[in-house]
Amino acid sequence: MKRIAILTAGGDTPALNATLYGVVQHASELEIEVYGILEGFEGMLNPRLPHVKLNPLFTAIPELDPCVGGTIIGSSRTYIDGVHTEALSGIAGRFSRLGIEGLICIGGDGTINGMQPLSELFPCVLAPKTIDNDLGLNHIDEPNEWVREESESGKPTFRRVASRNEIELSEMINYVTPGYATAVYVAAQGIERTRTTAESHRRIAIVEVMGRDSGYIALGASYGQPDFILIPEVSLDRQQFVDRVRKIYDLQRNVIIVIGEGVRDAEGQLLGEGSGSVDPSGNVVMGGAAVQLKHILRTDLGDDYFQKNSPHDNSDQAIFTRKVGHTQRGGRPVRFDRFHAAQLGGQAVELLIHEQNNHISTVQWSPESGFTLSQISANKLRDQWGTIRPRQLHPSFYDPNRYQPSEIGREYLETIFTDAIGHEDLEVLHSRLFHPGNLLTRYQSFNIDIRKRMKFLD
Ligand code: F6P
Repeated sequence: MKRIAILTAGGDTPALNATLYGVVQHASELEIEVYGILEGFEGMLNPRLPHVKLNPLFTAIPELDPCVGGTIIGSSRTYIDGVHTEALSGIAGRFSRLGIEGLICIGGDGTINGMQPLSELFPCVLAPKTIDNDLGLNHIDEPNEWVREESESGKPTFRRVASRNEIELSEMINYVTPGYATAVYVAAQGIERTRTTAESHRRIAIVEVMGRDSGYIALGASYGQPDFILIPEVSLDRQQFVDRVRKIYDLQRNVIIVIGEGVRDAEGQLLGEGSGSVDPSGNVVMGGAAVQLKHILRTDLGDDYFQKNSPHDNSDQAIFTRKVGHTQRGGRPVRFDRFHAAQLGGQAVELLIHEQNNHISTVQWSPESGFTLSQISANKLRDQWGTIRPRQLHPSFYDPNRYQPSEIGREYLETIFTDAIGHEDLEVLHSRLFHPGNLLTRYQSFNIDIRKRMKFLD
C-alpha cells in the first residue's frame, strides 16, 4: 500500500488527534502516504473530496499534535448508507482517481455502520473512539443476549437479557475507548469542585454527565466521591432514592448526585428526553435528566423540608443542577488517552496492510499482560439482526443499593485511572493556563492552517 485515507466521524473526543498521530507515525515508517478527508463522511460525499496530506515526505504536518484535543481534519455526524449506491460508486471513483488504496475511520458504532458498505468497495478498518466507552462487548457472546419482542404498534422492540451475573475483566472486548479517560477526568474534577460549594451552602447538587445509554462516565465520576451515582442501566427507584437522599442530607447537610444523561424511570421513560428530536445519526438528543431529577426531589421532599432543615426558603434554592457538558469532550487528552489512542491508530494501519477488511483495532486488558493491542471483525459486534448495540455497563459493575461502583466496577476503574495522568499533564497545567501570553494573543485555530493545506480533486 502506498496511499491511504483517514477520517474522523461522530462526536469528537480529546484523543482524536492522538489517534491520527499514531496512524501517521506508523504509516510514515512504512512509507505510506496518509490523506485526511475533511469533516468525516461529509467530505467523502463531496464530489471535490476536500483533503489534506497529513505526512508529506513521510513527516507529520506540524498542526498534528497528539496533545491537542479535537481533530484537525474535522468531524461530522453525517453517515453513509448502503442503499445510496450512487453516492458509494462516486466515492469509489474519487478514491481510485486519487490513488487511495484503503481507508481508516476513527469512530464509534455509527461509523462502523457507515464504513460497512464502503468496505465492499475498498479495504476499510476502524480505530475506535468515544468518550461514552460504549464501543465493545462485555464478553464475546453479548450480541446474542438481545431478544426481539413484538409490540402492539407493530414496531418490534429489543431488550437485553443478561445471561451472566459475572464476567472476568479480561473477557471484555475493547476494554476502553480513547476519550473516556479524559472525559472522566473532567467529570470527576467537576464533582470535586461542586462538593465544596454545596457543603458551604447546604445544598443538593445534581451533576449530569454524558454517555448516552451507557453508565461508564457516570461510574468513573465516582472518583469525585459523589454520594449517589445514577446510571442508565438501572432504572430509578424513586421512593428508595428520595429516602436515601433525605437520610444523607439529614446527616451532612449537602448531597452530591451524579446522573448519567440516559437514566430512565421505572416505566423505562428517559428522564431527560429533551426535545424528542434526533441527531443526523438517528440518536435521540438527550438533555434534561438532572433538571427532571431536581423536579422529582422538589416534589417529594417539598419546601417544608428545607425550611426546617436548611438555610433555604424553598427546595428550588436548595437544589441546583449542572451539566458537565461538552467540556468532557474537549481539551488536552490525559496521558492514558494519548498513549492508547496513538497505539490503536498504529494498529489500524497494521490491519489495513494485512488486509483485515472491516476490522477494528482494539485494546485488551488482562492481569497477566496489562494492556495489549488486538483486533476484531466489526461483524462480531453485531447482533443477529445486524445491529451494533452500545456497550452498557455490565450489571456486576454497579451496586444499586449503595449507588456506587461494585468491587469489580472499582477494579475496572483502577486498571484505567491509577496512572492515567502523567507528570507532563500537570506540568502543562502549571506552565500554560496562566501564561501571560494568553492575555495578549488570540487563540489561533488550527482550522485556519489546515484550510491553507486543503486540496481538492479537480
Ligand atoms: O456520543 C458522544 C456524546 O458526547 C454523548 O455522550 C452525547 O449525548 C452526545 O455525544 C452529544 O452530542 P452533540 O455534541 O451532538 O450534542
